Amino acid sequence: DWRMDSFVETSIEAIRAKVGSGRVLCALSGGVDSSVAAVMLSKAIGSQLTCVFVDHGLLRKNEGDEVEEVFGPSGPYDLNFIRVNAQQRFYEKLAGVTEPEKKRKIIGEEFIRVFEEEAKKIGSVDFLVQGTIYPDVVESGVGGESAVIKSHHNVGGLPDYVDFKEIIEPLRDLFKDEVRKAGLELGIPEHLVFRQPFPGPGLGIRIIGEVTAEKVKIVQDADAIYREEIAAAGIARDIGQYFAALTNMRSVGVMGDERTYDYAIALRAVNTIDFMTAEAAQIPWEVLGKVTSRIVNEVAHVNRVLYDCTSKPPGTIEFE
Ligand code: XMP
Repeated sequence: DWRMDSFVETSIEAIRAKVGSGRVLCALSGGVDSSVAAVMLSKAIGSQLTCVFVDHGLLRKNEGDEVEEVFGPSGPYDLNFIRVNAQQRFYEKLAGVTEPEKKRKIIGEEFIRVFEEEAKKIGSVDFLVQGTIYPDVVESGVGGESAVIKSHHNVGGLPDYVDFKEIIEPLRDLFKDEVRKAGLELGIPEHLVFRQPFPGPGLGIRIIGEVTAEKVKIVQDADAIYREEIAAAGIARDIGQYFAALTNMRSVGVMGDERTYDYAIALRAVNTIDFMTAEAAQIPWEVLGKVTSRIVNEVAHVNRVLYDCTSKPPGTIEFE
């Protein structure tokens, strides 16, 4: 794609000219936007860039290690990579909390606190990178729907808790599909470029009610099986977003001769154009059957699997 080719080249040159010999800080989530922004910056200014990746313990199975493999010292990019393993901190803050907005708020605030501590260790930087894309710019202008229904912690105001002079937003003019094209142009692995959206509060809002380390493990394992089977069926690119959630419901089942009383996993899959409205995706019954039998057999403390048929509205895509 010659247009994306020249966009990437021009952006890299513009970043070099702007940054000079300055130091740049980037909050890396491993999502598409921040990953593409980070790689673009790395190509432009190399180790003048520091990326801070906060592992809040609410990521999908193996995700923290996968991000580290790509962006860490053994990966292909020239940058300073800092991974903060803050899992315990988040679990402690979330202990006993069941109210969805309160959970979102705690995760968002703790995230800022961790990032702020790292930024302080680094000292003053000249620029802060934001992976803002064009729809974010538009949405924040008109007050997006999601901002009202649910508090999205990673969209919005400038972080005043980091000492920097200027913001760099290399993806500000791009739509999502163009960000992906830029990512491919930059040679970022396809599994990162075509990642589905993952909410900032992560699995914290896919576990209904209280979050515990044990419940995180359950939903991670169930979700990994779901993703594996969707990929194996070759339908991953046909579905807008899909994931497993852990309901707060336990019910009676039978395993061998034993009565069980365990959790229900809910499977969600939606098709959507803009994530403001969505409809339940029609996953083939055989795929759902395979996923279900694997989850109940392989994941401890789950004895039932449910499929969410609700569209948005009235449901939302996430459960909290
Ligand atoms: P809902 O649940 O509001 O989700 O229908 C719509 C889309 O937004 C994602 N989502 C978030 N993304 N921070 C994010 O970056 C958040 O706090 C957040 N909450 C929901 C959700 O995954 C879906 O794609």
